Amino acid sequence: MDTTHQSLYAAHVTEIQSRWEAALEEENLPAVLVHSGSPIISFLDDYEYAFRPNPHFLHWLPLTRHSDSALLIVPGERPQLFYYQPDDYWYLPPADPDPWWSEHFAIEVVRTADEWRDALERRLAGSSFGLGDMAAIGDAPSLAALFPATALNPQGLVDRLHIARTRKTPYEVACMDRAARLAARAHMAAEQAFRAGGSEFAIHLAYLAACEHTDSELPYNNIVALNDHGAVLHYQARERAAPAERHSFLLDAGCTVNAYASDITRTYAHEAGEFADLVTAMDEVQQGLTRRVRAGVDYKQLHLDAHHAIAGVLEAAGVIRVTADTAVESGLSAVFYPHGLGHFLGLQTHDVAGLMNNHGRPIPRPEGHPALRLTRVLEADNVLTIEPGLYFIDSLLQRWREERDASMIDWDRVAALSPCGGIRIEDNVVVTEEGCENLTRRAFAEL
Ligand code: GLY
Ligand code: MN
Ligand code: MN
Repeated sequence: MDTTHQSLYAAHVTEIQSRWEAALEEENLPAVLVHSGSPIISFLDDYEYAFRPNPHFLHWLPLTRHSDSALLIVPGERPQLFYYQPDDYWYLPPADPDPWWSEHFAIEVVRTADEWRDALERRLAGSSFGLGDMAAIGDAPSLAALFPATALNPQGLVDRLHIARTRKTPYEVACMDRAARLAARAHMAAEQAFRAGGSEFAIHLAYLAACEHTDSELPYNNIVALNDHGAVLHYQARERAAPAERHSFLLDAGCTVNAYASDITRTYAHEAGEFADLVTAMDEVQQGLTRRVRAGVDYKQLHLDAHHAIAGVLEAAGVIRVTADTAVESGLSAVFYPHGLGHFLGLQTHDVAGLMNNHGRPIPRPEGHPALRLTRVLEADNVLTIEPGLYFIDSLLQRWREERDASMIDWDRVAALSPCGGIRIEDNVVVTEEGCENLTRRAFAEL
C-alpha cells in the first residue's frame, strides 16, 4: 500500500465514521456491531463456498478474506475490531493486522470463531447501554443467537448506511481506479487470446493470469462469450473447445482492489463488416451517453435516451423497418436492448441504493423498464456504469414475431447478424459537478 493510499484511507475512516455516527443518531441507536460473516458449508459436506464478507464490514476495512471478525461502532469512540486470527494448521490464518489500516482501530485478537461475543460483552460491561439497546449488521448465525430479531439489520439503519455508500470517498475512488486499470490490462490480454484463436476457457485463463486474480477474487463471474453466446446477457459457460468459426467476442469482466470492483465490457468483431460497423456505432452511443453524465442528471432519462440512440443504430443499419421513435414507443427497442443502462458500482458490482432517494423512499422505474437498477438523480462522487447493449436474442425476437408485428423487423438482417450474438460496451465513471471522470477509458488509454 503506497503512502497516498494510506493517507486517503485515514481520511476515509474519518469520513465514514461521521456518516455512520449521523445514521446512528438519526435512528436513535447508541452503537452498532458489524459482523464480517461466517463461512457457508455445502450440504452434508465440510467444503466451504468462496467467502464474501459483509459489505458493511468492508466499508470500514480492507479485510477481504476475514470471516468471524466483528467491528463495534460507538459514536465518539475509536472503532473496536475483534479480529479473528485462529491458531490453525488446516488453513492459513489471517496475517497480523497491518499498520496501514489497523492504526485507525482499537484491536482485540480473538482465537475462536465465537469469541467476539465474550469480547463484546466484556467491552460493554460498565457502558451506558447494553446489547439490547444496540443494532447488529450481518448475516452470521452467531449474530442471530445473540441479538433479538428486531436488532438485526433494522431497515431504517440499513437504508441510511446504503445511502451513505452512494457517495464514494477519494480512497474508494482510488481503489476503483486501480481495479479499472487491472481489468483493462486483463481485457487486453483476453483480446489477444481471442485474436490468437483461443477458446472461451483459454481466454478466461489469460484474463486471470493478466490480473493475477483467482476466480473467487473477481467481483462477479467473468462473461466470456464467443459468437452467439454474446446474446446471453450473463453467459456463464466457458466452452473448452474453440468454435470452428469465429465472428465476435464479448467480454464482461472486472477486478477487485480492497473489495472495490470494476465492471467493464468490450465487444470485438472478428473482421471488418456489418457487425464491426455496429460495434463502432454502439461505441459512439456509449461515449455520447457518458458525455452527458454529471451531477443533477436524472439517470432514468439517460436510460430512456439510450433506447432512442440504440433504436437509431438499428434503424440506420436496416435491422428494423420503423423509425427509432416507433421502435421505442412500441417496445421493439427492448427486444434488442432488454437491460438497464447501468448501476451503481462499489463494494458490490450492483451496488446498493440505486432505487431510492436520500430519504430512503423508493424511486420507481419507468414503466416497461423492469431491469433498470438505477433511478436516481446523479450526485457528485457517485460511481456507476454506462453500459448500453444491442443483442440478437432468439427467444425475444421470436416472441415479437409471434405476438406483435413481424413486419417491423428485417429478418434477413437479423439472420445475418445473429451469429455475432450481441454488443455491450461498459465503462465505469465517477460523477462530478461538471461531468464525469471515465476510469475505464483512461485506464485503456494509458496502457
Ligand atoms: N457484469 C454485470 C453487469 O454488467 O451488470
Ligand atoms: Mn455492469
Ligand atoms: Mn458488466
